[in-house]
Amino acid sequence: MHWSRDGYQVGTDNATFDFDIIHAYLAQSYWSPGIPRATLKKAIEGSLCFGLFGKGQQIGFARVVSDRATFAYLCDVFVLPDFQGQGLGRWLMDCVMAHPDLQALRRIVLVTRDAHSLYKEFGFTAPGKPEGYMELHKPGIYRSSVGAPDGD
Ligand SMILES: CC(C)(COP(=O)(O)OP(=O)(O)OC[C@H]1O[C@@H](n2cnc3c(N)ncnc32)[C@H](O)[C@@H]1OP(=O)(O)O)[C@@H](O)C(=O)NCCC(=O)NCCS
Repeated sequence: MHWSRDGYQVGTDNATFDFDIIHAYLAQSYWSPGIPRATLKKAIEGSLCFGLFGKGQQIGFARVVSDRATFAYLCDVFVLPDFQGQGLGRWLMDCVMAHPDLQALRRIVLVTRDAHSLYKEFGFTAPGKPEGYMELHKPGIYRSSVGAPDGD
């Protein structure tokens, strides 16, 4: 899939992504600090990913982990700092939510520290029954000695 607007592009072809830019951002993000290159490469290969491009380079990214039939987890959403605040994150989300494989899902989940108002525009809400949600969360996994293997 491919979308264009005002000189910017969003596409879902992993082969067009600038892996170094994506890894550099995510490895210093608050949600996946230190993520190994090999782990991210595997994650991208197994996901529906959206690259945002402009000014001749990759400037944003979003990743959807999904069976493309019933469920999806939206994560790794970012726009590089120099390009934030111009409506590009909202447009990237427009493209994600318009993807044909994500139209008939029963549930889409995401986790955010402070971007709730962005996702609210697309219909996301706090869980209706949080007492029903469980998780096995290992925020320090990339820092521990038993974390995922490093390298390419
Ligand atoms: C969040 C992010 C993707 C938004 O992209 P952007 O291009 O800056 O956003 P836009 O210009 O399209 O504006 C998005 C709207 O969401 C709002 N918003 C809500 N939470 C926000 C946040 N944490 N950061 C930026 N915008 C936020 C903005 O205020 C804006 O609304 P407005 O136009 O009414 O002011 C981008 O700022 C970013 O990469 N932030 C750092 C990484 C991050 O926090 N990612 C989300 C992880 S869940």
